[in-house]
Amino acid sequence: MEVGAIRLTEHGGPDVLQWQSVDLPAPAANEVQVRHHAVGLNYIDVYHRSGIYPTPETPCGIGMEAAGIVEAVGSDVKDMKVGDRVAYASQPLGAYSEARNIASDRVVLLPDEISYDQGAAMMLQGMTVEYLLQRTYQLKSGDTVLFQAAAGGVGLLFCQWAKSIGARVIGTVGSEEKGEIAKAAGCSDVIYYRHEDVPARVKELTDGKGVPVVFDGIGKDTWEMSLASLAPRGLMVTFGNASGKVPPFDINRLSAMGSLYVTRPTLMTYTADSGEMRKSANDLFKKVMNGDVDIKINQQYLLREAAEAHRALEARETTGSTIFNV
Ligand SMILES: NC(=O)c1ccc[n+]([C@@H]2O[C@H](COP(=O)([O-])OP(=O)(O)OC[C@H]3O[C@@H](n4cnc5c(N)ncnc54)[C@H](OP(=O)(O)O)[C@@H]3O)[C@@H](O)[C@H]2O)c1
Repeated sequence: MEVGAIRLTEHGGPDVLQWQSVDLPAPAANEVQVRHHAVGLNYIDVYHRSGIYPTPETPCGIGMEAAGIVEAVGSDVKDMKVGDRVAYASQPLGAYSEARNIASDRVVLLPDEISYDQGAAMMLQGMTVEYLLQRTYQLKSGDTVLFQAAAGGVGLLFCQWAKSIGARVIGTVGSEEKGEIAKAAGCSDVIYYRHEDVPARVKELTDGKGVPVVFDGIGKDTWEMSLASLAPRGLMVTFGNASGKVPPFDINRLSAMGSLYVTRPTLMTYTADSGEMRKSANDLFKKVMNGDVDIKINQQYLLREAAEAHRALEARETTGSTIFNV
C-alpha cells in the first residue's frame, strides 16, 4: 500500500522536510499498523532534522509521536486488535506519516476519554514530565523547583502536574505573553530570562537558599544560570538543547558550586522497558482524566506543512503543544 509521509531528504533546515509517497508493507509478526489521526511535533524532531541527533541514513522517516487506529496486526500480537485506538511516543522515526507499522510493545491503548489530538499532543512531552518529576527527582508537596522555558510543551505540562502535587514552580519565559500562559498553568513565579538575572531572582524567591533541583531543556544558553540557581547538593537535570548543546564542562566545578549533582536523562531510557513505558503513559492519562493536567494544543498544522511548524518552533513562536492533522 502507498501512503503519504513527510521524509527527511537530508539533514538541514526546515526545507529538507518533503512530502513523499512511501510503500507501507503488511506489519511484521510483532507489529501493528496504525492509521494516524494526529501526529505530535517535538523539539527532538528538530534535532533529528538538523543532524544534532543521529538518524538512519537519509532519506528516512521523521517523528516519534502519534495517535490513531489499528488497521492491521502481526501474527504474534495478542494484546491489540483491528479498530483499537492507540498512541505512542517512540523510536524508530516515522510518525510524520498517514500510516506506519510499529512494534506493538511500543504502543498504548488510548482511553475513550482522551481524543486522538490530545494523545498526539501529550505522549512524548507528558511521559517526559512523568519521569522527570516522579523518577529523575521525586517531587513532593512543598518543594520549590526551577523549570526553564515554562510556557513550552513540556513546560506547561510540568507546571500543572507539579502544582497538583503541591510543589512550587519558578519558571523562566521569553516574553510577557508566555509569562501569563505559564502562570495560568500553575507556575507560581515567572522570571524573564532574556533580561533578568535568573540566579539572583531565584535566590530572592527562596530566602537566599536556591532550589534543590533545576529542570533545563534549553541547554547551552541556560546551563550556567541553572547551576548557579541550585542550593548546595542540588540536582541539575539537563534534558534538552533547544539553544544548542551544553559545552564541555570541568566536573571539578561541581564541588566548588556546592557538591552538585548533574544528570542528562532521556525518555528513551526511562521508557525502554515496555512495562515502564505503559505505566508512565497510564500515570499521565490518569492526570489528564482527573483534570489535574489539561493538554494545551496551542498550534495545529497540516502534516504537509511540517516545515512551517518547525520554523515556528525554532523561532520560539509556539507555546504548549503542537500537533499535525493528518
Ligand atoms: N530528554 C528528554 O527525555 C526530553 C523529552 C522531551 C523534550 N525534551 C527537551 O525539552 C525541551 C523542550 O521541548 P518542547 O518540545 O516542549 O519544546 P518547547 O519548550 O515547546 O520549545 C522550546 C522553547 O525553548 C525556549 N528557548 C530558549 N532558547 C531557545 C533557542 N535558542 N531556540 C529555541 N527555543 C529556545 C523557547 O521558549 P521562550 O520563548 O519562553 O524562551 C521555546 O519556545 C527541548 O530541548 C526538548 O528536546 C527532552
